[in-house]
Amino acid sequence: MGAVAKTGRILSGMRPTGRMHLGNYVGALENWVRLQDAGWRNYHMVADWHMLTTGYEDTSRLQDDIYDMVLDWLGAGLDPEKSVIFIQSEVKEHAELHLLLSMLVSKARLERIPTLKEQIRDLNLDEQTVSYGHLGYSVLQAADILLYKPTHVPVGDDQVPHVELTRELARRFNFVYCQDRPPVFVEPEAALTAFARLRGLDGNRMSKSVGNTILLTDSPEEIVRKVRQAYTDPKKARATDPGRPEADLTELDAEGRPLHPGCVVFEYHRKFNPEGAADIAARCRAGTLPCVPDKKDLGQRLSDALAPIRERRERYAADPDRVREIVAEGNRRAREVAAATLAEVREAMRLKVTWLEGR
Ligand code: TRP
Repeated sequence: MGAVAKTGRILSGMRPTGRMHLGNYVGALENWVRLQDAGWRNYHMVADWHMLTTGYEDTSRLQDDIYDMVLDWLGAGLDPEKSVIFIQSEVKEHAELHLLLSMLVSKARLERIPTLKEQIRDLNLDEQTVSYGHLGYSVLQAADILLYKPTHVPVGDDQVPHVELTRELARRFNFVYCQDRPPVFVEPEAALTAFARLRGLDGNRMSKSVGNTILLTDSPEEIVRKVRQAYTDPKKARATDPGRPEADLTELDAEGRPLHPGCVVFEYHRKFNPEGAADIAARCRAGTLPCVPDKKDLGQRLSDALAPIRERRERYAADPDRVREIVAEGNRRAREVAAATLAEVREAMRLKVTWLEGR
């Protein structure tokens, strides 16, 4: 994406999972902030209704999770003067557009979405018990996006199928209802983050439920402690053994994945210490770089990188009135845009009950 050469409008969101981790930052927040500071129009949504698709029974932590996530967004550098931060369920237009768009897509099309299939597998769900709402996950996401007519949707690669469906629905709507008028919807593009996903400290997919993350709110001591336990090359048993910073593609498991998928500490160096990474890899390979001090070095770097985020977050956390005001104002601004789009939608669909007007 030529973010430097041009600007546009973005809409992106996350399900409220509470405190954000390093993967959320590297995979999303950092990119949102970069675009914001390059003059893009940013809309950022807390997807609380989406949370219900896989966890409708226990909503006891929902409000705390929303609040924690918003604090982390602000800490990461989203500037409420530049970016609109809002909550999905506070803008009812999302529900209305979701309903209308749901007529334009087949059940079979939704069942083919890989993200849904993965969730069914990961959460051990029975396909027969997937709820109507869960099946409609990406239709709701399409509504989220299309209401704000963004040019781009910055997301991780796992979200691309949703953006693809969004584009199809925009095209379909414009084709069916806008033959005699300008198209209502813009077909947005997915904008992938430049840096590939960061793995968790144990080398597996980063996930808070696994506990292999560094949280943006972790203290410097906590960060150093966690990095000390990070996955490194298991064959590098002694400080002077040569190590393999990168994945070893010569040894694969039964499913064809490398037995050693690469050293996590090195992966983090590449992200947070880009100038030093090549030298670190060379010394590791040569057996002149012991893991213990290197982990300490990385822990310090991470802690330094997160310090401004932690401090900004603490300032917002100390001023809950201000946070309330930011989100209330974000909701207002989002509603304005969403209501205008929905008026166009109703008009194009001939849903405006014109004969009732002027009673
Ligand atoms: N599906 C996204 C996720 O799991 C969250 C989301 C909901 C979203 N609506 C969106 C992301 C609209 C981008 C745009 O993270």
